[in-house]
Amino acid sequence: TPPVKKIACIGAGYVGGPTMAVIALNSPDIEVVVVDINEERIKAWNSETLPIYEPGLDEVVKAARGRNLFFSTDTKKHVGEADIVFVSVNTPTKTTGIGAGKAADLTYWEGAARLIASVSTSSKIVVEKSTVPVKTAEAIGKVLKRNCSDPSVNFEILSNPEFLAEGTAIEDLQKPDRVLIGGVDTPSGQAAVAALKWVYNHWIPVERILTANLWSAELAKLTANAFLAQRISSINSISALCEASGANVQQVAHAIGTDTRIGNKFLSASVGFGGSCFQKDILNLCYVCETLGLREVADYWHAVVTMNDYQKQRFVERVIGSMFNTVSNKKIAIFGFAFKKDTGDTRETPAIDVCKGLVRDNAKVAVYDPKVTSEQIFRDMSTPKFEWDRPDYSRSHTRLLDNVQVCATPESAAEGAHAICVLTEWDCFKHYDYAAIYEKMTKPAFIFDGRNVLDHDKLREIGFITYALGKPLDPFLQKVY
Ligand code: NAD
Ligand code: UDX
Repeated sequence: TPPVKKIACIGAGYVGGPTMAVIALNSPDIEVVVVDINEERIKAWNSETLPIYEPGLDEVVKAARGRNLFFSTDTKKHVGEADIVFVSVNTPTKTTGIGAGKAADLTYWEGAARLIASVSTSSKIVVEKSTVPVKTAEAIGKVLKRNCSDPSVNFEILSNPEFLAEGTAIEDLQKPDRVLIGGVDTPSGQAAVAALKWVYNHWIPVERILTANLWSAELAKLTANAFLAQRISSINSISALCEASGANVQQVAHAIGTDTRIGNKFLSASVGFGGSCFQKDILNLCYVCETLGLREVADYWHAVVTMNDYQKQRFVERVIGSMFNTVSNKKIAIFGFAFKKDTGDTRETPAIDVCKGLVRDNAKVAVYDPKVTSEQIFRDMSTPKFEWDRPDYSRSHTRLLDNVQVCATPESAAEGAHAICVLTEWDCFKHYDYAAIYEKMTKPAFIFDGRNVLDHDKLREIGFITYALGKPLDPFLQKVY
């Protein structure tokens, strides 16, 4: 008999949905049910319009849904019946109380653990899919054990962090660089590791399935994200130096990236990294270090976030400084609001901070994004990043929204605008008719390319005053004070 017949996953979000869809696609012999407390989300997973946009996801869901992949709100039944329960709930940064702005908020995680304990009548493997602070498994183990009324039920906890990136989730899940499974070194712990390995081995060769102890697996996830984000902050710091010195950050990145020890990936200078993971996970890592008395280690990693905030602020200052030090009442077109291309996700997108920065100087931003809805943009622009840090929140709130417009086309965003800011690297931005766009803009017309995706020489030929991040500046762009 197969070691696993049924899998349940708590949390039908960006990770739970795609991950379970790919497991189901590749493992027709396993029933996979994704459950969530959010009824609307489950309804969307069962409809023609999935709740998230991810290339290739529709096809995978279509192939498996109704066969061995199901989405449900009946948590009790499906978690109760499952051999393996993945927990893929959100673990955001705490916004109030001790550790606010740094520590991971494990409320949802603990809620999921209590739920598993209360419905379990058979032994289960509980898999941490969410990104959690190191040692979370220990805490979860206690919650599970003390809340289950049936003493014969045994819980084995595994850490199986997810390394997928949004926009390439299906590709990453189908052909991961590696899958990491952490478990305890007891016979039942190792049996649990073997069972999860068996699931992944349906499509992933064994040599790509790494095993580790629980704490290493938990910490490897935080470390991976910290290293990735650190590369971006490193190249972004150099982009500032390039602009100040006349060097070109793409040439520098290419020159260092050809050193195989450095490698050429993740070296694109940008207006800043975004996404739900990098900042949150680094802050979480810093908090864990601080808690363990490792202040220097925490400071070291915190600098990655500081540099990212600096890069977003530097961009805003560049825009305002270049436009004669005033953007008051000037329309500024924003091309791209998602945190990266090929996703509609806006969590921690640099566009939020850049737009807020421009609006604070009284600019009128007109946003166009091919995938992000206007509701989402308005919600993001009126939500404070860290509530306690915004004593003037209720005052600034209305003004922010007055100065934000969401446009259905890039042309309407740019019409009459003084400037265009490119904040997401969407491929479609490369192919617009910029000569026609230029004609309809207020002159002098500026373009600030925060992603270096456009043809800057061509834009200059058309007449745009063009800022390319980390590249020699147009004489016109020197700041005015
Ligand atoms: P998400 O917010 O999109 O999804 C989480 C879901 O969990 C929500 O739909 C929420 O309603 C549900 N939920 C919360 N508590 C619940 C409960 N008690 N019972 C049932 N459902 C519950 O989050 P996400 O982006 O999928 O991230 C999930 C985890 O994976 C986080 O820890 C994150 O750090 C990690 N992660 C995310 C990514 C990514 O690219 N987004 C990548 C790797 C790891
Ligand atoms: C990241 C990790 O890559 C993934 O392994 C983890 O599981 C979740 O967090 P994600 O946030 O979805 O994935 O996307 P990623 O491609 O890492 O991009 C994050 C941010 O960095 C984006 O805003 C992106 O535009 C930016 N970035 C990326 C750069 O600015 N420059 C680069 O060279 C690469």
